[in-house]
Amino acid sequence: MKSVKVGLLGLGTVGGATVSVLQRNAEEIQRRAGRGIEIAIAAARDVSKPYSFDTSSIELSTDLQVVVDHPDVDVVVELIGGTDAALELVLQAIDNGKHVVTANKALIAKHGNEIFAAAQDKGVMVVFEAAVAGGIPIIKAIREGLAGNQIEWLAGIINGTGNFILTEMRDNGSDFADVLAEAQRLGYAEADPTFDVEGIDAAHKLTILASIAFGIPLQFEKCYTEGIGHITRDDVEYAEALGYRIKHLGVARRTEKGIELRVHPTMIPERCLIANVDGVMNAVLVKGDAVGPTLYYGAGAGGEPTASAVVADLVDVARMLTANPENRVPHLAFQPDGLADIPVLPIEEIETAYYLRMGVSDKPGVLAEVIRILAGQGIGIEVMLQKEPNDDALTVPVIIISHCVCEGQMDAAIGRIEALDAIQGKVTRIRLETLDA
Ligand code: HSE
Repeated sequence: MKSVKVGLLGLGTVGGATVSVLQRNAEEIQRRAGRGIEIAIAAARDVSKPYSFDTSSIELSTDLQVVVDHPDVDVVVELIGGTDAALELVLQAIDNGKHVVTANKALIAKHGNEIFAAAQDKGVMVVFEAAVAGGIPIIKAIREGLAGNQIEWLAGIINGTGNFILTEMRDNGSDFADVLAEAQRLGYAEADPTFDVEGIDAAHKLTILASIAFGIPLQFEKCYTEGIGHITRDDVEYAEALGYRIKHLGVARRTEKGIELRVHPTMIPERCLIANVDGVMNAVLVKGDAVGPTLYYGAGAGGEPTASAVVADLVDVARMLTANPENRVPHLAFQPDGLADIPVLPIEEIETAYYLRMGVSDKPGVLAEVIRILAGQGIGIEVMLQKEPNDDALTVPVIIISHCVCEGQMDAAIGRIEALDAIQGKVTRIRLETLDA
């Protein structure tokens, strides 16, 4: 059978690794796909540098447009990142009748609805396994392996750089900036690393996971996003002392009121498997009504792990090339006319437990006042602790773990607590999830 011809956009860390994996495992890949998969042309800004793979059979170009217009190319693999040029090139490729494989989470999260509609019109496939959690086949697991379930919730460590930073801070007391520089050197971080530390990259990925889990259109702009920059070593230590770990989680949950869609630092019990996912590794916990909780773990960033997902998508495309488009797995797991209009809840309407830390003047009656304010908002207390006085000797840190409550009620309580004369500065709040099955 004729080989599938691939046009590659981008020859950076993931692009180069994709060529290497395709060449190294060519025989196995052909046996799986039923036909060979060959890179016909690859384009990047600079193609003069020495590559670690064989370029003799690959046409190299600095013109990205040539790839999407190339008459021999069946599948365009987009690995340039960003959303402007990538969107134009992907839409052009679709218009030219080419299938698309992309690792671009920002592109899918922000423009996926438009891209899938164009692909549907043209009867071409757009696949994006590498966009979420690097080498973990989480899209395939939810879209196909769990197709018999109602997905109730999912929670994931879906940014390797952020997890690497939190792990190094906890284990080695490393400095935030040093660890971030190391993540950049290793090729884990985004071109703009604030995407990693502020949770934007994780929000892109969570948006995609929520759509395929719940059958809703992609709504990146409604995802609540909070970074890890304000997490202190004290919080990490207090969490550990209470039996918790702090992880930067993406959480998507179906409730009676709507969908919770949120990325933020989260305290989770240290006994959970996912609490022990360290370094650049990713993990996604998915709760289906039939299967119960399932956990997917693996490398969430880096060249070859991401290339593993890109090549799996190429094999899927090669297998499905001759299938009737109506019989293919839908882009967002649900048939386009089966997508549901379930609202995504604003953060004030989500429900969770909380860890609160506040600096309190060491005077009688202050804690009673704090408890009164919380009770006034209907907030129950699970744990309340007073720690050693701060260095200034004037305030003591007080730690509270609350029961589950609506965020709006917690906002109101925190506002009142911060207004007390005896409370110094802001109250630190970290949401707490028990991730019970
Ligand atoms: N910057 C991303 C991360 C790369 O650290 O997870 C993989 O999407």
